[in-house]
Amino acid sequence: MTLEQQLVGLVEYDASADPFPVSGWDALVWVVGNALQTTHFLQTAFGMELVAYSGPETGNRDHHAYVLRSGAARFVVKGAYDPWSPLADHHRTHGDGILDIALTVPDVDRCITHARAQGATVLEEPHDVSDEHGTVRIATLATYGDTRHTLVDRSRYSGPYLPGYVARGSAVVPPAKRLFQAVDHVVGNVELGAMDEWVGFYNRVMGFTNMAEFIGDDIATDYSALMSKVVANGNHRVKFPLNEPAPGKKKSQIDEYLEFYRGPGAQHVALATNDILTTVDAMRAAGVEFLATPDSYYEDPQLRARIGQVRAPVEELQRRGILVDRDEDGYLLQIFTKPTGDRPTVFFELIERHGSLGFGKGNFKALFEAIEREQERRGNF
Ligand SMILES: [Fe+2]
Repeated sequence: MTLEQQLVGLVEYDASADPFPVSGWDALVWVVGNALQTTHFLQTAFGMELVAYSGPETGNRDHHAYVLRSGAARFVVKGAYDPWSPLADHHRTHGDGILDIALTVPDVDRCITHARAQGATVLEEPHDVSDEHGTVRIATLATYGDTRHTLVDRSRYSGPYLPGYVARGSAVVPPAKRLFQAVDHVVGNVELGAMDEWVGFYNRVMGFTNMAEFIGDDIATDYSALMSKVVANGNHRVKFPLNEPAPGKKKSQIDEYLEFYRGPGAQHVALATNDILTTVDAMRAAGVEFLATPDSYYEDPQLRARIGQVRAPVEELQRRGILVDRDEDGYLLQIFTKPTGDRPTVFFELIERHGSLGFGKGNFKALFEAIEREQERRGNF
């Protein structure tokens, strides 16, 4: 197994038979209220490296945009400069969040032809953008809510991001060891009853296949519940769990998201690390807040028996609140941050896979109970 296979659970597949071949993540494009300061946070707390910039100095009178990298992961952070920018509207409605889950594809036109035939909404037709570094072919599809998928073929381009961007570094000293190496999955929250519709969209339009299914009791606590299904591209580099609220005694965490994001959107981004203990320590020292896990989680004899032998002593995981899950293929370690913006919406997960291709199904209940304690403190439960 290669390092990347282990890190994000890659599988072999035949792209020639795929009507919509996707190679991987191109970028997660964020819209925030203050791009400069979010960029600072992502450098100092997430150890990302600033690599490119677009703004008034480069002729962009609409917004500031900062491009950050950590290994294979690329984030683009945008903040409106012009009050009439569409990005300002997006931020007023949704708060800080993910506008675009951009994907790298070898053939933009082929994907769009297939997507259109399957009834997808094409927001931007395939077109070339060029500068002195070459040409990028690009097109954009609509997905749930105001979220989009820009399809990018950058095989003929050598610039720092896209035409219109200039290379840019910063004085922030990166951590000695990279805190994460790749994006593992991005979760979408959709309205009650819409999950299967979006699973169908990814199946039909983008050729994604269903990976796993968590329904009903699996992820219901006494008070709050959700349903979740997971779709993935051919090589499994791109994985999209999709959640919808399920009826519970109190408001589901998905309902809280939908209320505060004002509609469907990206709920969390899971970042793949090969050393979750060091990453959690570094992020916590920089002020990142993680969801607390009750001591009972680690002391429960049933859970101890279920997780078996993992690479770190359970006491080390407990000290940091790291969760463990095991399935027939192996195990994974994971932890979730609190929401990182002003609204109780988008947050991050850190995930260290050891063979498991799952998403922490066994931890859902333990996790959701922890989330609900936070929801209760905010008075939204
Ligand atoms: Fe996740």
